[in-house]
Amino acid sequence: MCSIIGYYGKGIAAPILVKGLKRMEYRGYDSVGVATESNNQIELKKGIGKVNEVNSKIHLDTLPGKIGIGHTRWATHGKVTDFNAHPHSSNSGKIAIVHNGIIENFEELKKQLEADGYDFKSETDSEVIANLLQKHYEKTGDVKETILQTVSEIKGHYAFVAMFENGQLAAARFHEPLIVGIGQDDFFLSSDVLGFIEFTDDAIYLENGTFVILEKNKFQILDFNGEHAKYGITKVSKEFGDAYKGDYAHFTLKEIYEQPETILKAGEKSEEAVEQTVDYMRHSKNIYVTGSGTSYNSALIAKQILSKYAKVRIEPIIASELQFAPDSIEENSIIIAISQSGESADVLEAVKIGKQANCKIIAIVNLLTSSLAREADVVIGMNCGPEIGVAATKSFTAQLVILYKIVQKLSNNKITINFEKFAESIVETLENTTKIQQTAGKLKDVSDVYILGRGINHPIAIEAALKLKELTYIHAEGIAGGELKHGPLALMDTNVFVIIFNPNDSTYSDTLTSAREIKARGAKIIGVSDIESDVYDYWIKIPKINQVLYPISEIIPVQLLSYYAALEKDTDPDYPRNLAKSVTVK
Ligand code: AGP
Repeated sequence: MCSIIGYYGKGIAAPILVKGLKRMEYRGYDSVGVATESNNQIELKKGIGKVNEVNSKIHLDTLPGKIGIGHTRWATHGKVTDFNAHPHSSNSGKIAIVHNGIIENFEELKKQLEADGYDFKSETDSEVIANLLQKHYEKTGDVKETILQTVSEIKGHYAFVAMFENGQLAAARFHEPLIVGIGQDDFFLSSDVLGFIEFTDDAIYLENGTFVILEKNKFQILDFNGEHAKYGITKVSKEFGDAYKGDYAHFTLKEIYEQPETILKAGEKSEEAVEQTVDYMRHSKNIYVTGSGTSYNSALIAKQILSKYAKVRIEPIIASELQFAPDSIEENSIIIAISQSGESADVLEAVKIGKQANCKIIAIVNLLTSSLAREADVVIGMNCGPEIGVAATKSFTAQLVILYKIVQKLSNNKITINFEKFAESIVETLENTTKIQQTAGKLKDVSDVYILGRGINHPIAIEAALKLKELTYIHAEGIAGGELKHGPLALMDTNVFVIIFNPNDSTYSDTLTSAREIKARGAKIIGVSDIESDVYDYWIKIPKINQVLYPISEIIPVQLLSYYAALEKDTDPDYPRNLAKSVTVK
């Protein structure tokens, strides 16, 4: 949820760290800080706000020295304040740390440290790491021993980088990502390759329960027993470093507009993995599909299309719920885990539970070097390139395309999809946004939006509500059309807007009736359909296409609607408040 970074080399550390943090801001962006070492002294600057804002105020990038650490925060323990921002220094000021994750036993450790005379300046769980390191370093004078003793005491999920006053840098990983970048004359430590991709594409993905110590021209990687740990150097794809907005005002808009291309790339070069998946699915009694947020909404759509077109039953499971019902997983089943980042802690936890039940793990993932991809038996790549906007857009439609490809194979090509032709129809939607922009203007002062769909359009209503919530902060709720009379109709009045997903499929006439019932109560109706109707106050036209593809053609105009409504409301579409792109804490 936070990003951590470290640099050790021949360059001036601070500007390199600030650049890396800017690229990783998607992981958390409520505050930022940098600390560097120079002449055996640690200097530190931090503040509230995004990287560029804080840097232009307090000039993080002017700190001296060739060794440093940095952090962008997504608050878990303690409010968004300067004191709670990272780095945190130990009481002596001789050690500074940055941390991503949660120290579950921090209260207990804090009490012990306070009894030993340590003071705490922040409300964070992270500050205990700095003081524990100091306590052990003062006793042992040895970085390796200090890290070993510290990790033996802390419980939770974490990755941290510690900088010692003598210029040594060490970093430990336990269930949070940590990557070492190996440059020509320098080393990088980072939560994501984006932190250093500009400087090197040679990376070591540290194994869980290992740590690294960096010294002049050398590094050692050890496990939590102090033994040398195995590692390999991977070449990472530079493509993930090419995250530029170009001529677009926001990443989110750019990513929405990339969809005609990304739907054609989804699952490319994963044909064998798709075959393997289909084979596993044919031979397994139980198939579970899991994910969080948008990726879980894909699982809901998977359920509908698999049963309708391939007569295969699956069980969608919200990843974060599985830990409370691990017995619902039958031994030797299949778990299809969907995740853009491949780093969502809830998804990784679900996979862990699946592995304990001896399940085969199939990952549908965008980041092929992610933890999920490394845990899986079969990996299918979304191939949609870096998605920086916190709201998932192109990754969602890429996930759906992969699911369609699986359904096609499973149904022995009973459904045929011409993706090229379909991509052209998306271009049509993206080129005609005047109506969408005008409709977005009407949502500016609306506090509640209900979104209604039946059958396959119901999960799309849920996904559309998620997009509206994230991007505009408007309360939004996806409703199954038939449920209207069982409760939600009570909410319909003249202050409410309702989006109706009503394509020309078997749900059409029932949904049109629902629209009339809602209209009779005074609510305003936005109809998303390929057929015009007088019941809609605002009609957003979608192309007439192969029915199976309606979910994708329905969600794209609502992604745009949410984006333009965000602009009307003056919220930041790329970085919605309180959220982070990659949710690496449970
Ligand atoms: C979607 O718009 C959200 N930002 C969020 O729900 C996201 O889909 C979820 O956190 C899962 O992320 P993942 O696909 O990277 O696992």
